Amino acid sequence: MTTLGILGVGDLTEKMVRGLIRSGAFAGSAFYLSGRNREKAIALVEEFGCVLRTSNQAVVDEADVVLVGVRPAQLEELAHQLVLRTGQPIISVAAGVTVRQLTGLFGERDVSRAILSYASEINQSTVAVFPAQSMAGQLLSTLGTLVSLDTERDFELATIGACMNGWVYFLIDEMQQWLGKKGLPSETARRLVLSSVADSAAYSHYRIETPVGELGASIATPGTYTANGLEVLRERGGPDAWLGACETVFKQLAVRETE
Ligand SMILES: NC(=O)c1ccc[n+]([C@@H]2O[C@H](COP(=O)([O-])OP(=O)(O)OC[C@H]3O[C@@H](n4cnc5c(N)ncnc54)[C@H](OP(=O)(O)O)[C@@H]3O)[C@@H](O)[C@H]2O)c1
Repeated sequence: MTTLGILGVGDLTEKMVRGLIRSGAFAGSAFYLSGRNREKAIALVEEFGCVLRTSNQAVVDEADVVLVGVRPAQLEELAHQLVLRTGQPIISVAAGVTVRQLTGLFGERDVSRAILSYASEINQSTVAVFPAQSMAGQLLSTLGTLVSLDTERDFELATIGACMNGWVYFLIDEMQQWLGKKGLPSETARRLVLSSVADSAAYSHYRIETPVGELGASIATPGTYTANGLEVLRERGGPDAWLGACETVFKQLAVRETE
């Protein structure tokens, strides 16, 4: 059984640990946690019997594999606090930090990267990993849908997918609030919007052979209310705004890659 050491128990890794334990794939394994964000770590200790360590080095010493869950700007400080064993693998979830940068910080070893979402907690995240055959893929696949990327550039594109996951929350919120302002009870509005989003995703999965744009066009036929609304969205630059956000973040990731 693989023992995981978690450096940086924050918003994302706390949910990942919950999902990994929930999956049952780690039954009998220990999870060692760094103690800096004690509130989240202590909750995992109390609920699941994870083990809290006072120093990052103690976490690393107990772990077969180290999961690095700090923010990119915190990596350097973290790397200075540790001596990893020769060949000890690490998995990093730090967005935009390349394998080359990670080996520069932590030394030559098996380094893999993963991008996930909060739905890790319920094992329904997208689990994008690089390299394609990696420790990240092996250990994290139970957190949701595994998407293995062959190149680091493709992995950065998957990071944009993870950003989109975040943006969708705001779209949902806008829609829910608008419906609420028009008089729909908040709970009804929430259920309606969430169900509509899940419905599009589910039907697109079901019709896997059909391009999603074609499915949309078959709904937004001329004269329909859907088509009328789509025209307004296009006139006001709705789709362009989304693509602009993607381009901006992709450029920021590309800059990090060359740093
Ligand atoms: N949140 C997401 O949805 C998401 C999605 C994709 C990728 N990511 C990536 O996941 C990483 C974590 O994001 P997050 O949102 O979970 O951030 P977060 O909540 O700030 O979690 C980072 C945790 O690491 C702790 N930490 C920092 N330096 C440490 C050190 N030297 N030793 C031990 N613990 C340390 C922080 O403590 P302090 O609060 O005291 O600094 C914090 O508890 C980031 O690299 C981000 O790029 C996040």
